[in-house]
Amino acid sequence: MRILVTGGAGFIGSNFVSAMARDRPDAVLTVLDSLTYAGSRASLSAIDGSIDFVEGDIVDARLVNRLVSDADVVVHFAAESHNDNSLVDPLPFLQTNIVGTYTLLQAVRHHDVRYHHVSTDEVYGDLELDDPAKFTELTPYNPSSPYSSTKAASDMLVRAWVRSFGVRATLSNCSNNYGPYQHVEKFIPRQITNILTGVRPKLYGAGKNVRDWIHVEDHNAAVWRILEAGEIGRTYLIGADGELDNLSVVRMILELMDKAPDDFDHVADRAGHDLRYAIDSSTLRNELGWQPRYNDFRSGLQATINWYRDNPTWWANDKDAVELRYQVQGA
Ligand code: NAD
Ligand code: DAU
Repeated sequence: MRILVTGGAGFIGSNFVSAMARDRPDAVLTVLDSLTYAGSRASLSAIDGSIDFVEGDIVDARLVNRLVSDADVVVHFAAESHNDNSLVDPLPFLQTNIVGTYTLLQAVRHHDVRYHHVSTDEVYGDLELDDPAKFTELTPYNPSSPYSSTKAASDMLVRAWVRSFGVRATLSNCSNNYGPYQHVEKFIPRQITNILTGVRPKLYGAGKNVRDWIHVEDHNAAVWRILEAGEIGRTYLIGADGELDNLSVVRMILELMDKAPDDFDHVADRAGHDLRYAIDSSTLRNELGWQPRYNDFRSGLQATINWYRDNPTWWANDKDAVELRYQVQGA
């Protein structure tokens, strides 16, 4: 099977490609990635000989068309992915997340290639802290940020291309991922690398906001299961029942890194900050038989801390620039 993976040098995409190279030696893997600040060739160095890497932009229709014509399946991870950046400069989000998805859809339509669209639970907006409800496949779209609104738009394009043009696509909307190779701008790696560089962790507002954590390997196993057995046109929600508020996550990181529980700073809150995400993944579990393997967040977090401690060369070059950006935002 020839698989084209967009965004394969990013956090989730590089973990996906590495897992495929490890577990599916029959797969012929091509990565298309424009290596923005968030992409890194180093994330793929261990499997360099097993993949074809193409540096290029998903809005480049000629390039996308050529690569798609050589593929049996496209898995689309590429995106501008960080909410905070989308509040400062939304345009790249519109360009990559909407126009990029459109470009891929036109190519898979033209060449009749199977397509999987990787999306986020943020398209559903947020839930109250004390609401027993979780997001399901039927929850209405209600995105809050420029990032999530462009992801919502891209999901809508996929649904329209399925219905109007018969494109063979599936979609998945996943909750917050953690694990190795996540950019240091994101919450968990930021706090781990802060502590490793002698800086106090930074918590937005009071830290009551809840995220539903899932290990990146569990997300990617679900994506693969959907590719194998998912029904065309369907959306699957991916989550591992990992709800935790941000304060608890910071305190757990501090404890696992032998720091005092209050050794962190409260900083300016994010504008429009979503309160709570929570995923009901029963459709995926019941219909496709997927189960998360990383059920103990604490030990997954410890392994993630160890990975950042053991791999400073992977993240050190980005750290100063990221913290400078946050300083300007008062975060
Ligand atoms: P990331 O920011 O770590 O990686 C994105 C990758 O896409 C980078 O390698 C970047 O270079 C590449 N890219 C960006 N613009 C491009 C363009 N125009 N052309 C080609 N490549 C481009 O993101 P991530 O956290 O790995 O997220 C991957 C996907 O999963 C995204 O679609 C995101 O919306 C979705 N998602 C992420 C999470 C999460 O918790 N991180 C959860 C649910 C869904
Ligand atoms: O839910 C899925 C989404 O999860 C993905 O679609 C996004 O691509 C991904 O970035 C993530 O979005 P979040 O905004 O939830 O993740 P982030 O890591 O930026 O922040 C997680 C929580 O931690 C959020 O409530 C904001 C808070 N936070 C973040 C940072 C960077 C802090 O308290 N301090 C920080 O320094």
